[in-house]
Amino acid sequence: MKTAQKETKYGNLAVLSHPLIKHNLTVMRDKATTTEVFNLALKRITYALFYESTKFLPTEDIEVETPIKKTKSSIVSKNIDVIVAPILRAGLVFSDIAQALLPFAHIHHLGMYRNEETLEPIWYYNKMKGKFKNPENTYVFILDPMLATGNSGYDAVHNFVKQGIKEENIVFMSLISAPEGIERLTKAYGKIRIVTAQLDETLNEKGYIVPGLGDAGDRIFNTL
Ligand code: URA
Repeated sequence: MKTAQKETKYGNLAVLSHPLIKHNLTVMRDKATTTEVFNLALKRITYALFYESTKFLPTEDIEVETPIKKTKSSIVSKNIDVIVAPILRAGLVFSDIAQALLPFAHIHHLGMYRNEETLEPIWYYNKMKGKFKNPENTYVFILDPMLATGNSGYDAVHNFVKQGIKEENIVFMSLISAPEGIERLTKAYGKIRIVTAQLDETLNEKGYIVPGLGDAGDRIFNTL
């Protein structure tokens, strides 16, 4: 799948640029779109987000025998651990495709909701797989469709950095991002990677992305 990267003023930020991604995003933005169609459009974009997010994973060569001859061919390195960390609840929408593409990944749920007045995250769940045995070689993919204020994103990244995971091995993957959220994350953690399908204009006074698509969790789970 070919995805072009846009030049932006932020360091490790990849904004996907592709007619089909734009098309599906337009479907998702439309407030008349049903939950069923919204989730279908999101799935189509999710594959592209994951291929971009995982492209720096280390590989190794193994020997494989095709029906024609033996050859060297590469696989994802066996010496790494991969953590997929959806921020509940909207981040769950990426989980099934994460498990399809990264079947060896450990799923680490991060439960946070936002205080509607302060816009600060309140933690209620942090389910990880024991202690990291190999933090140097652990790769983390934090999933949240909307990177808005960056407050919960900051907490999520901090949760892994404080356990010894290298910033450059952490990807924050979102569907739509606001400049405010990207600034918040990259100012604190300059080496993390951010992969998003769309950089929007700004946030409104309630911390929603403008123009955005509204409350992603409500639209994904039909709780409007
Ligand atoms: N969370 C959402 O679901 N939507 C936004 O616009 C911002 C945060």
